[in-house]
Amino acid sequence: MDIKNIKYEISNQDVRKCPETDVPEYAFIGRSNVGKSSLINMLGKSKSLAKTSQKPGKTLLINHFKVDNGAWYVVDLPGYGYAARGKEQREKFAGIIRNYILGRRQLTCLFVLIDIRHSPQKIDLEFLNWLGENSVPFAIVFTKADKLGPVAAQRNVDEYKKVLLESWDELPPVFITSSEKGRGREELLDYIFSINKEISESCEEETEESESGSPEEKN
Ligand code: GTP
Ligand code: MG
Repeated sequence: MDIKNIKYEISNQDVRKCPETDVPEYAFIGRSNVGKSSLINMLGKSKSLAKTSQKPGKTLLINHFKVDNGAWYVVDLPGYGYAARGKEQREKFAGIIRNYILGRRQLTCLFVLIDIRHSPQKIDLEFLNWLGENSVPFAIVFTKADKLGPVAAQRNVDEYKKVLLESWDELPPVFITSSEKGRGREELLDYIFSINKEISESCEEETEESESGSPEEKN
């Protein structure tokens, strides 16, 4: 399956002002410059859907993109931990991100992006642990795979998994991507579509049950 259409809808800093919807939402998070906006453009097969930059700190808002006429949403978030922002600004963005992640009922899976070139960083590991403590469903997406050869890329991914298994009983879904080369697009979309299908099937079951009604309800 593929995306039929994707369209920018709205940006804001307040989770309470995000679109009122009843459909699954998939958000992309990670350190500044890791490639969140580029990945969304890659999924949408567009160069200009989400704004990207060589300089970190480009995305400053919660950006909603409507997919397949509103069947689901993609969300581009500001990066975390950008040192040059200063403490006050960093805390402001951490607050925006935290409120979105914990407060957005529609959030179905958070994709946490990790630059494949780097060894596991404390800030990312702490963020992943925080997601676990708060029972936020997430998957890990390694970015910029084109910047390493296949052997080095796989070695770094294996090393990352090893470190994760030191504090987690099982690994989350892991994807290897390159927005530059389109790598991982199909796998990510298959994953999203499979979750969407599960959700719509369980909604259908609920509707059937409520339509047939329990004996108590009929009396
Ligand atoms: P902020 O919004 O600032 O938090 O950054 P971001 O995570 O949205 O990163 P963005 O998509 O703006 O990309 C940052 C830089 O990395 C840009 O110069 C991109 O061209 C580059 N980049 C992103 N993904 C890839 C990739 O897969 N391969 C390569 N070679 N470069 C990439
Ligand atoms: Mg961005």
